[in-house]
Order: sequence, then structure tokens, then C-alpha cells
Amino acid sequence: MNLQNVFKNNKEWIKNKITTNPNYFDELGKGQDPEFLYIGCSDSRVTAEDLMGLGPGEVFVHRNIANMVTGTDLNAMSVVEYAVVHLKVKHIVVCGHYACGGVKAAMQSQDLGILNPWLRNIRDVYRIHREELNAITSEDKKYDKLVELNVQEQCINLIKTAAVQKAIRERDLKVHGWVFDIHSGKLIDLKIDFNNILESIREIYHLD
Ligand code: CO
Repeated sequence: MNLQNVFKNNKEWIKNKITTNPNYFDELGKGQDPEFLYIGCSDSRVTAEDLMGLGPGEVFVHRNIANMVTGTDLNAMSVVEYAVVHLKVKHIVVCGHYACGGVKAAMQSQDLGILNPWLRNIRDVYRIHREELNAITSEDKKYDKLVELNVQEQCINLIKTAAVQKAIRERDLKVHGWVFDIHSGKLIDLKIDFNNILESIREIYHLD
């Protein structure tokens, strides 16, 4: 790809935005007030705003390999803290995707260097749900299920943080688990019952 095209595309994009709304960039420059925090995979095929039909200013985004929310990851934890406490987002979405390379790598016996500790968190998800996953005979279906269970566990990791616990209690912050089906383009709401989960883990993870 010729990088000059990127700058040409950018000029085109500015022109389109100003044609629709002459004040577009003045308004954008005033600040942000997004309702969503989106935590997704870094995979180039799974764009955040694009697949939701949203634009600049509407989504606070964090992406990493396999959409992980790890309590010791200063990057992810800072994003959550800023989005929840300061931007006061109304919804947090953890969005996984089928055919996730990170999840696939975690299912294989292979030394991947510095990726090992990152992918180990996905292996932990497998261990927690081992019985359910081992009962699935189709490798493809097992892989899809691990993608879904990983989303669920990352949502639970969000609920373990003090900022999210406080915002759920005080202003009804919602946490959602979604999967992007890369084969059809569809967004699937896993409809995870967080009230139940929150209740069942409160005894162990309650902070605030
Ligand atoms: Co991925």
C-alpha cells in the first residue's frame, strides 16, 4: 500500500465531514462525552466504531490481543478507571470475535515467548470451564465456545474492579458481553446475566 494514499484518504474524509456538518471539527475539538467503553481484540478485521456504525467521539476504545481485562495490566486498568470514573460511560462492552488468533494460540501447545503469560490468561479461562469445553467434540465449536467464555470471564474481571462495582451500584452502569461473527459481520449479544454473576461472586470479590 502506498502511504500517500492514507493522507489522500484523510483529505477526502475531512471534506466529507465538513460537507455534512461545517462545524464538525469545531465540535470534535471541544471534548468527548462517549456513552460506551469498548474493549475488543486488536485483530485488524474487528474494527470498533465501524462495526457498530458509530463515529469519532462516541466510543472510548481499548484493544489488545484477545480482548483481555487483566487486573495487573496497568494499561487496561487505567482505561477502565478513566472511562468509568471520569468519562462516566453508561455501558462497557467486551467484544470478542470468532476465529480469534489469540484464543486459537492459547489452545495450542507451543512456546510463544513473551506471548506466553498473556495467553496463559486464556488458558485459565479454559481451566475454569474445562468440563464444558472438553464435552464438545467438534474442535471448531470448542474454539467458538472458548471465545464466548473468554468474553464472559473478561466481563467478570471488570466486575472485580472497585470502579465498576461502585458505578453499578450508584448509577446502574451496564456491562455487556458481545461476539463479532467474522464470517457474517453480525454482532451477537451473549446476554450474560451479570446480576446473577455479581451476586454469586460478591462474597469473594466485593471491594466497595
Ligand atoms: Co482476536
